[in-house]
Amino acid sequence: MADVTSFWLAGNRAEGATTIDVRHPFDDGLVATVAQPDADQVERAVAAAAEVSPRFSALPAHVRASALAHVSREIARRGDELARLITAESGKPLTWARAEVARASSTFRWGAEEARRFTGELTRLDTDPTGEGRLALSRRFPRGPVLGITPFNFPLNLVAHKVAPALAVGAPIIVKPAPRTPLSALFLGDLLAETDLPEGSWSVLPVPNSEVTGLVTDPRLPVVSFTGSGPVGWSIRDAVPRKHVVLELGGNGAVLVAADYAAPGDLARAAGRIALFANYQAGQSCIAVQRVYADRSVHDELLREIVTAVRALRGGDPTDPATDVGPLIDEAAARRVEQWIAEAVAAGGTLVCGGSRTGASIAPTVLTDVPADARVVREEVFGPVVVVAAVDGLDEGLARVNDSEFGLQTGVFTHDLATAFRAHRELAVGGVVIGDVPSYRADQMPYGGTKGSGIGREGVRAAMTDLTEERVLVLTGLDL
Ligand code: SIN
Repeated sequence: MADVTSFWLAGNRAEGATTIDVRHPFDDGLVATVAQPDADQVERAVAAAAEVSPRFSALPAHVRASALAHVSREIARRGDELARLITAESGKPLTWARAEVARASSTFRWGAEEARRFTGELTRLDTDPTGEGRLALSRRFPRGPVLGITPFNFPLNLVAHKVAPALAVGAPIIVKPAPRTPLSALFLGDLLAETDLPEGSWSVLPVPNSEVTGLVTDPRLPVVSFTGSGPVGWSIRDAVPRKHVVLELGGNGAVLVAADYAAPGDLARAAGRIALFANYQAGQSCIAVQRVYADRSVHDELLREIVTAVRALRGGDPTDPATDVGPLIDEAAARRVEQWIAEAVAAGGTLVCGGSRTGASIAPTVLTDVPADARVVREEVFGPVVVVAAVDGLDEGLARVNDSEFGLQTGVFTHDLATAFRAHRELAVGGVVIGDVPSYRADQMPYGGTKGSGIGREGVRAAMTDLTEERVLVLTGLDL
C-alpha cells in the first residue's frame, strides 16, 4: 500500500483510522492517500486551540511575524515542489500553479509585515470638560479560534488567506481543506511545524464534508471563515447566526468594454485578457470572466478578437508547461458545464467556439445571443465559458453587470476617468478593476463580495480586522 500522508493535529503529525484518496483530475491517477482524523482527534485539536488561545494572542508580534516570514520564504524556496503538488491534486496547469505559489509566499510575507504593524488608535477625550485628563486607546483583539474552510480551486493560496491573517493577529486556526485537494494545506503544515508557534495554535484536519457540522457549531470556534459555494456558505451562516462568519462565495464575473476603449490595439488587448481569464484554471475561479458586455460600437470587433484569442489557447495535460487550459476538478463538474452550454444553445444561444467535453476537460467556449436567464449567465459557471453580448451605452452596460445575484469583482475597459468613477460608485460589487479583467487580485488588497458573493473581506489586513474586535482602554488622571 502507498504511504499515507498524515495530517496535523495541534501542530503535531497524526495518523488516522480512515483515509481518503486524492486523484489527479486529468488522468484519475492516484496522487496520494491521506489520513483523516476521527472524532476524538478533532476534539483534541479544538480543545488545544481553545486552551492556547489567550497565551497565543499575548505572544509578541515579532514571534508571530518571524514564523510567517519563515513560511513565506520556504514556500518560495520549495516553489517547484509545491507547484507540482498543486497541479497534481487540482489539475491546474503548472503555469498557474506557479503563479499561485508566488502569491501564497506574498500572502505570508504580508502577514509577517502586518503582524508588526497591527497597533491601535488613540482618541483624545479632553474635547469636553468631562474628558479632561483622559485618553482612549483602541486595540483589536482576536475574537477567538478560527475555523477556516477552504475550496479546491486555490488549494494553497486560499488556505494562506485563512492562516496568515489568523496567525498574524494571534488567533489559533483549524484548517479544513477541500477533500479533493488537501495536499497543499498539509504541506503548509510541514512549514508551520518548522516554526516556534505554540502547540495548538494551528491544525490541518482533512475532515470529510459530511462531518464538518460539529466543527461549525462548536462554541470554542467563534469565527468561521469559509470560501466555497454559496449554498454551503449560507447554510453555515444560518446554522450559527451568533458566530462571526466570513463568507467568500461565488461570482459570475463581468467585463464591461466601453465605447471609448477603441484606440488602435485596445480591443485586441482587452480580448486577450478576456480570453485568458475566462479560461485560466479552466474557469474555476470566483473572479474568472464569465459575462462580457461590450458597447455595440466595439462589439463585433471585440468578439472576433476574443474568438481568435480563445482558439489560440492550448488545452491538455496540466503538467505540460505549454498547456493553458487543463481539466476541471472532476468529470461530474465538466458534465454539468457541458449541460449548461447545451441549455444555453437550446434557449437560442449561438455556440461560437468550443462546447465539447473530453473526460473532465471542456474546450474553451464562447457563446453569444444567450438569454439573460440562462444558467451560463445567471449562475456561476466555474468552467471555461464566456458569454458575450452587445449593450447600448454605459447606462445599459452598468445595469447588465448589476443584474446578477452575485457581486464580487468587475473589470471595466475604459480610458475615461469619469466612467471609472461612475462604475466604482454604481456597481454593486466588492471590487472594480479599470483597464483589466475582474480576475485581477493582489493578496494585500481587500477582497470579497456583496449580495450572493458573501460577507466580510479578505486580503491580509482586511482579514486581520475581520478576525478581531475592537476593545477600548480608557486612561484617566493623565497630565496631558
Ligand atoms: C477565488 O476564486 O475566490 C479566489 C480568486 C483569487 O484569489 O485569485
